[in-house]
Amino acid sequence: MTNPLAPGSLNGKRALVTGSSRGIGADTVTMLAEAGARVVINFRNKEKRAQQLADKIAAAGGEAIVVGADLTDADSVASMVAAIREAYEGLDILVMNASGGMESGMAEDYAMQLNRDAQVALLDAVVPILAPGARVVFVTSHQAHFIHTVETMPEYVPVALSKRAGEDALRAKIPELAEKGIEFVVVSGDMIEGTITATLLERANPGAIGARKEAAGRLYNVNEFAAEVAAAAVEPVPENNTRYVGDVSDFVGASTGE
Ligand SMILES: NC(=O)c1ccc[n+]([C@@H]2O[C@H](COP(=O)([O-])OP(=O)(O)OC[C@H]3O[C@@H](n4cnc5c(N)ncnc54)[C@H](OP(=O)(O)O)[C@@H]3O)[C@@H](O)[C@H]2O)c1
Repeated sequence: MTNPLAPGSLNGKRALVTGSSRGIGADTVTMLAEAGARVVINFRNKEKRAQQLADKIAAAGGEAIVVGADLTDADSVASMVAAIREAYEGLDILVMNASGGMESGMAEDYAMQLNRDAQVALLDAVVPILAPGARVVFVTSHQAHFIHTVETMPEYVPVALSKRAGEDALRAKIPELAEKGIEFVVVSGDMIEGTITATLLERANPGAIGARKEAAGRLYNVNEFAAEVAAAAVEPVPENNTRYVGDVSDFVGASTGE
């Protein structure tokens, strides 16, 4: 695993990565822990995987706690914040990675509930335990970030609209966060090879991921994208509070941007 963060560079820091039992979240939380942060692994369903990851981090000399929470459930989020306060007293890094909306059997507006409403409620719940100088990172896709100017695959549209709505609602809080000395960064990346989302979209649109790969030159894998998210948690806040990962020329050419 290629970690952009130097060992020890996050000594004394505390970080929560939502949805970190697997995938991009798991690699991100591992990188933050390797750099010395005490981390919180949040899961919704995958408790066993979350605990295995915490054990791996501990075996490598790091420190991790595992806290279950469904972000769409306010009580569950409140319990998670209380558990973090008790274990670490506060947080210096919040990575808003958890996402969804393509699951079957959910309410029609579930994508909006999770990707907009729950993200805003999470931030509101976590702000009281964020230390001055803390960093909040919201993870999204180019397909969502640019949804108002660039078309995407039909199956992804509800997710894209809800993630962009979530991003906008969080961006509206930048002044309020700045007053508290809290920084905010959006990380936007193209489809990531090897993820469930990419697999589902490829199944519904055979050839779509290959076409994106060809258009973009290459697609990032989970570990490479996680490295960008981890770097976004510590590097200076980019212009427009936005870190674009990889080539965005296909998207920006058709867009007015922020
Ligand atoms: N996949 C891509 O191609 C791609 C491209 C660009 C950006 N991104 C962004 O990268 C981030 C991670 O994507 P991913 O593909 O790794 O996602 P994923 O495989 O769908 O994983 C989602 C994570 O979110 C958690 N989660 C889902 N619903 C939740 C809820 N209600 N409460 C708490 N946690 C919940 C899941 O936890 P459990 O496993 O415990 O259920 C899981 O850990 C997302 O923000 C996504 O938009 C992804």
